[in-house]
Amino acid sequence: MSGSTELKVYENLNELSRAAAAEFVRLAANAVQGKGVFTVALSGGSTPRALYELLGGELSSKLPCNRMHFFWGDERFVPADHEESNYRAANEAMLSKLNVPAANIHRIPTEMPDAHQAAERYEQELRAFFRLGTGELPRFDLMLLGLGGDGHTASLFPGTSAPMEKEKLVVDVWVEKLHANRITMTPPVFNHAVNVIFLVSGADKAATLQSVREDAYEPERLPAQVIRPVYGRLVWMLDRAAAGK
Ligand code: 6PG
Repeated sequence: MSGSTELKVYENLNELSRAAAAEFVRLAANAVQGKGVFTVALSGGSTPRALYELLGGELSSKLPCNRMHFFWGDERFVPADHEESNYRAANEAMLSKLNVPAANIHRIPTEMPDAHQAAERYEQELRAFFRLGTGELPRFDLMLLGLGGDGHTASLFPGTSAPMEKEKLVVDVWVEKLHANRITMTPPVFNHAVNVIFLVSGADKAATLQSVREDAYEPERLPAQVIRPVYGRLVWMLDRAAAGK
């Protein structure tokens, strides 16, 4: 059984970001109205920056801040104030401008001695927050994801074991070509979410996007293909340049 898939194309990154922000606000309001809380895992990279700025700016009054819990789908194993940090990017653009209680901001603990311990600690945080029993998965209201030119999403990189991980909730990944450690949630977590939204912008992503959506299923070559929500909605929100092919 799998969830539904939608594809929405917008003229440019600005309109894509505005549409994504409106959807974010809608999902947050629905979740809080329905169960009193909204849980979201943010994506990193540059594509969501304008979205985060809208949510931290003109749309901030529409967000039920004290009922929202922010997590990260992946993180670079760098200090929280490092220019590469996904936490820092989201904090500067959005979180620092919202009245979200500090306890509701669930940063991946990159101050741990190594990436493996950071991943283990974050898995414990997910298990505690979602009160998971053995074998249970967290169900996020919203997962935001991007798409890398090599077909990665979050830090599920080709040539690593992360895209095929089926047991753990969070793993550490050595990415040889980046010469860097990453921490990432795993496919079972992404695929258990209620809403999964890919934000993809730019002509440089068009060929990869076409391969991900149309080529045979090869998640080790195209990890973004592994994102197939079991029950939830999968929404591709693209600008025209990325949708070009
Ligand atoms: C990260 C992201 C990563 C990103 C893609 C696209 O930590 O960088 O999680 O998966 O979404 O690499 O990045 P851009 O939006 O910068 O193209």
